[in-house]
Amino acid sequence: MSGIGIPQPRVDGPLKVGGGATYAADVKIPNLAFGVLLCSTIVKGRIATIDTSLASAQPGVLDIITYQNCPPFQKPSKPISSQGQSLVPLQGADISYYGEHVGVVVAESFEAACAAADLVKIDYSPANVPSQFAMAKFAKAAGGARDTTWGDFAGALAKAPVKVDQQYTTPYLHHNPIELPATTASWDGDILTLHDSTQWLAGVRTLVAALLGMPPVNIQVLSPFVGGSFGAKRVTWPHVYLAAVAARLVRRPVRLVVTRAQMYTTLGYRPQTVQKITLGAQRDGTLQAFRHIAATTTSEFDNFIEPASAKTGMMYACPNGTFSRTLAKVDLGTPTTMRAPGESPGFFALECAMDELAYAVTVDPLKLRLLNYADVDPTTNSPWSSKSLKECYAKGAAQFDWSKRKASPGSMRDGPLLIGMGMASAAYPANRSPAAASVTLFADGHAVVQSATHEMGGGTYTAMAVIAADELGLDIGQVQVQLGDSNLAAASVSGGSRTVNSVGPAVEAAAIQVIDKLVTLAIADPESPLYQAEASQVFAAGGSLRLKNKPSSADPIQKILARHNLPSMQMTASTAPNAAASKYSQYAFGAHFAEVRVDPKFGEVRVSRYVGAFAAGQMINPLTARSQLVGGIVGGIGMALLEESVVDPNIGTFISRNLADYRLPVHADVPAIEIILVPEQDTVTSPLGTKGVGELGIVGAAAAIANAVFHATGKRIRDLPITPEKLLSLDASHPRAIQRRQHVRK
Ligand code: MOS
Repeated sequence: MSGIGIPQPRVDGPLKVGGGATYAADVKIPNLAFGVLLCSTIVKGRIATIDTSLASAQPGVLDIITYQNCPPFQKPSKPISSQGQSLVPLQGADISYYGEHVGVVVAESFEAACAAADLVKIDYSPANVPSQFAMAKFAKAAGGARDTTWGDFAGALAKAPVKVDQQYTTPYLHHNPIELPATTASWDGDILTLHDSTQWLAGVRTLVAALLGMPPVNIQVLSPFVGGSFGAKRVTWPHVYLAAVAARLVRRPVRLVVTRAQMYTTLGYRPQTVQKITLGAQRDGTLQAFRHIAATTTSEFDNFIEPASAKTGMMYACPNGTFSRTLAKVDLGTPTTMRAPGESPGFFALECAMDELAYAVTVDPLKLRLLNYADVDPTTNSPWSSKSLKECYAKGAAQFDWSKRKASPGSMRDGPLLIGMGMASAAYPANRSPAAASVTLFADGHAVVQSATHEMGGGTYTAMAVIAADELGLDIGQVQVQLGDSNLAAASVSGGSRTVNSVGPAVEAAAIQVIDKLVTLAIADPESPLYQAEASQVFAAGGSLRLKNKPSSADPIQKILARHNLPSMQMTASTAPNAAASKYSQYAFGAHFAEVRVDPKFGEVRVSRYVGAFAAGQMINPLTARSQLVGGIVGGIGMALLEESVVDPNIGTFISRNLADYRLPVHADVPAIEIILVPEQDTVTSPLGTKGVGELGIVGAAAAIANAVFHATGKRIRDLPITPEKLLSLDASHPRAIQRRQHVRK
C-alpha cells in the first residue's frame, strides 16, 4: 500500500544498507589522485617560509599547492549566499584563524598525501596581538540587526508584579556528520564535474563558477547521497573549490576528504550564545512584557548571525515585547547554520525562562503555556497558517502522564535517584522556496521523478516517490526518483526543513500535468473507454485512468501511451510559494515532555522517558517523519547534556577534535522516544498541506531536559551542557562557566 500519509519504508534503504549508495568519496574514477588539506597552526599572523622540498620528494607526490603557486581566484562582483566564508584561502601569506587552509598536497594515494603533508614545513610569524575566542567585546552586528519591538516593553515590565530576568548560555557546537565532507573533482576540457557532499547543489555550482570565473553551465555537481550534515554542508566551504583547482593543476581527477579533526575548523560550527530573557507577568502568570537579547559570536571577517532571539517572540501571547541581537567578533573561522540555527539555542533560553516563571507564580508549566497561548503571532498580529499546538500539549501530556508529576522540585524519587519531569514548546518556521521537478511516464508503466534536490538522511527519495505515485495512480515500486544532480530541474537548498515543502509541490504539479495530458488524449480517443468523458471526472489509480462515477471503466496508462505511439511523456513544473501565504505566520509546532533520573551523588543525568507531540501539517511519510523528529530530539539530548566544543586559548582552536572528545549522544544516552504526530493540514503553506519536520524535533528539546533536571534537583543550570560538574558544584548557577568563556588570551 502506498499513498500520502501511509507509512512507507525507505525506497533507498536497501541501497544504503547494502553499500550500493555512492557517497561523494565512493565514486570510482580512473586515474584518481588524492588531496589532503594543510591547515594553519597559528591563529593570526603570516606564513614566513614554506619548505616543500622533503615532501615533494616523497614517492607518489604529484603537487603541493600553496599560496605561492595557487592561481588567484576571481572576486565575485556581489556576495554569494552559498559562500561559507568570505575569506578565500591560498591568496596570500596572511593567516586569520587556526585551521585556515594553507595548502593542498596531492598524491597517488591518500596515504602518500597524508605522509607528505606531515613533511611540509611551514614557519609562521605569529602576530603579536592577543586573540580572543569568546564574548569579550561586543559589537553591534553590521547590517540587518535592528531591534524589533511591539507595544511598550519598558512600561509593561515596570508595572509587572512578577519578573524573570535571567541569562542563558550555550557553547560552541560542531555538527559531526558521520560522512566526512568530501569532494571529487574532475575536468574534461572546460567542463568540471564535482561529486560533492552537499545540501545545496546549485549553491556549489554558483560559488565555484564565480571563484573560478567560468560559466555555471560548465559545472555539474553530483550529490545523490549525503551521509548526514546537520547544516555543515549547507554552504560551500573552501575545500570544494580547492579540490577543483587541484584537479586542474595535476590534470587528473582529485578526491579531497576533510578529516574528522579538520571538520572542527573547516566547515563552520554553531557559535556560542549568551542570551538574556526578561519576562514580566501578572501574579497568575499572564505575560505582560517579553524581551530576548542574544549575543552570538562570529569571525573577524564575516557577520554570520545565529538568530537565537529572532524566532521566540512569536511563541506566547504578550502585548509588549522586544528582541535584538548583537555580534561578538572572535578569532575563529566563520560559524554556520546547525540543527535549527537560532531556534535551538533560542528556545532553550525561552522555554527555561517560561519554566522559571511557572515556579515563580506556582502554576503548572503546561498550564502556564496554555494561559499564554498565542492565537495570532504577537510580533506581527498575523494569523497562523495553521496551529494545532493545543492538541500537541494535550496528547503529549496524556501519553506522558504529566498529571502524575508532583509540583515541587526534588519531590519524586526512584530509590536513590531523583526523578524530574520537564516540558517545553517547539516551533519551527514552515519554510518554502521555489523549486522545479520533472516527471516522466514511460510506456512500460513506470515513472521517473527528477529534481536537483538532496537526500541527506531525511527520506527525500521516499517522500518524492510517495507524492508522484499518489498523483500518477501508480504503485510506489513503479516510481523511480533521481536527485542529487545539478543538471536536473532546479531546486533550492535543502536547509531550514524546506525540502518536502518546496520540492513536493513541484513533483505533485509535474505529475498532475502528466495525468492531465493523458486525460486529454484519452477523452479525445474513440478507442478509449473514457472517450468523450468530462476531464474533471477522470482520475488516475491502479495504473489506469478511471471515471469517478464508474471506476471500473478504466483505460490503462500503458495502453494510452501505446495507442499514441508515445515511448514516454515528460512534464516539468516550477512552483513557488503562494504570494497570499505571506499574510500568514507559518510555523510547525510541538510539545516536548522529558523525564530524567539524576544520581545526586555523581550528578549523572539520564533521560529515562521522552514523549514529543508534533503538528507539522500533512505527513507525506509518517515513518521517516517520525525518524526525523526522533533525530532532532537526539540532537536535543546532545545539546542538553553532552555536546560542547571548548576553545583552548593557548592553542587558539577547539580542543575537542574527534568523536571521543566531542560527546555525541549514543544509543545508551537515548531512551525509547515516543512520537505523536497530530493530524493537521496546512492549506496556506503548501498545496500538499505540509510544513516540514527536519528541525522541529530539536527545538525546545534541550529546555525540556533542563527543566526536568531542575524539577529533579532544584538546581537551575542555565549554561549548556548540563554536566555532572555543574550539577555537583555548590553554586550550580553559571558564573564560573561564563568566566571560562570570557577568558582572553594574554
Ligand atoms: Mo539546516 S541547519 O537549516 O542546513
